[in-house]
Amino acid sequence: MVYIDDIYADEVLDSRGNPTVRATVVLSDSTVASAIVPSGASTGKREALELRDKDDRFGGKGVLKACENVNVSIADELIGISPFNQAEIDALLKELDGTDNYSKLGANAVLGVSMAVARAAALSLRVPLYKYLGGSNAIVLPTPMLNIINGGAHADNDVDLQEYMIMPVGFDDFKEALRASSEVYHTLKKLLNEDGHPTALGDEGGFAPNFKNNEEPIEYILKAIEKAGYKPSDEIAIALDAASSEFYKDGKYELKGDNKVLSAEELVEFYENLINKYPIVSLEDGMAEDDWEGWQILTKKLKDKIQLVGDDVFVTNPKILQEGIDKGVANSILIKLNQIGTVSETMKTIRLAHRNDYTCVVSHRSGESEDAFIADFAVALNTGQIKTGAPARGERTAKYNRLLSIERELGYGEYIGKELFKR
Ligand code: PGA
Ligand code: ZN
Repeated sequence: MVYIDDIYADEVLDSRGNPTVRATVVLSDSTVASAIVPSGASTGKREALELRDKDDRFGGKGVLKACENVNVSIADELIGISPFNQAEIDALLKELDGTDNYSKLGANAVLGVSMAVARAAALSLRVPLYKYLGGSNAIVLPTPMLNIINGGAHADNDVDLQEYMIMPVGFDDFKEALRASSEVYHTLKKLLNEDGHPTALGDEGGFAPNFKNNEEPIEYILKAIEKAGYKPSDEIAIALDAASSEFYKDGKYELKGDNKVLSAEELVEFYENLINKYPIVSLEDGMAEDDWEGWQILTKKLKDKIQLVGDDVFVTNPKILQEGIDKGVANSILIKLNQIGTVSETMKTIRLAHRNDYTCVVSHRSGESEDAFIADFAVALNTGQIKTGAPARGERTAKYNRLLSIERELGYGEYIGKELFKR
C-alpha cells in the first residue's frame, strides 16, 4: 500500500518577487511532487488567511512560519496515510487547523500540501492530474479570459477597472483560440506604441499605460481585434473585472479615471451603457464585497444579459456562495483555491455553483508561479472557463501551455466557446 512518506516546504519566490510556499510530498513508492501557492493583491476580506511572518525579512512577507507548519504539524498528521483519498486528507488538514479560515496553520501552508498530495497521487497512478481529479469526463478545454490591459491594484496607471480581458469564443479549439488571442495582444501593443503609450506590463502581463477614461481601453482592444483580422463579439468577446471593492469608499464608487463618484444604481447604469455599446459577455466584481444591496440591483438588472462573476464577494466559500444564491447575487463565481484553502473545499464550491446554475471561472492570482495546477483543475472540473492573465510572462503562459498539452493529449477535447453565453 502506497502511503505518504515525507512532507516538507520551502520558501520560494512568486512572480512579483515575494516569498511564497512550495510544498513537497514524497510517497513510499518514491514519487515526489511539489506545488507552489499563489498570492493576491486585491484580496477579499473574507479570504482564508495567508500566513506571513511580519518580521524584518522580505519586508514582513516571509513565509517561514507557514513552512514550519508544513514541516512539523502537517507532516506529523499526514505521514503514513494513503494519498489517494483527497477528501480525507483535506478534512484532516481542516481539523488540524481547527479555525474557520486557516488562521492557525495558514491557508498557504495548507493549500500547498493539499495540491501537492493530489499531484503526487496522480503521478503515482501514472495518470495526468486532470484525469486523476476528473476522470474520463474531464474533457472540456476552458475558454480563457486573457487580461490584456491592467488597471486598479495591478498597475500604476489611473485606470479604475482592474482587468480588461478578451475571450476567444468563436473558435473550434483551444489552440486556435490562443493563437488569435496572442495576435490581438501583439496588435494592441503596436497600436498603443503608435499612439505614444508606454507598453510596460502590469502584474498579470497586460499593458498598463494611462488612458483618457475607463472606456478607452475597450476602444483600443476592439481596434486591436479588428486589425488582427478577427470579428469582435462573434470570434472575440470582452470580459471585465472591475474589482470594485478597491474603489468603493463610504458607500460610493469613486471612478477617478472618469472623475465621477457614483451610487450603486449609477454604477449599474455605467455598466449598462458599456454593455449596450460593446460586446461584453462577462463582468466580475461589478459591485464591492460589502455592498450586497448593490449586488442585488446589478444582478436584477443585468443577469439575463451577461455573466456576473463574484470574486471578492464569494471568496470561493460555499457558505457565502449559498448566501449569494439565496439573495440573488451574481450568476457566476470566480474560483481561487487559495481563497478557501484546500482542493476538496474548492471542488465543493464548484459542485454547489453548478447545482444552482452558476457558472465557474477558475482563476490565477496576480502573484503567480510556474505551477500550472489550475490548468488541470479547470479541465478536471469541467468549468469551461479559466482566467489566467495575458498570453505573456512565464507564470501566465505556463497555464496556457499546459492547456495546449492537455488538448493534444486528449485528442477529443471539447472547446465550447460560444455555447457558454447562450442565455
Ligand atoms: P488578485 O486579483 O489575485 O490580486 O486578488 C485577481 C482578481 O481580482 O481577480
Ligand atoms: Zn477579481
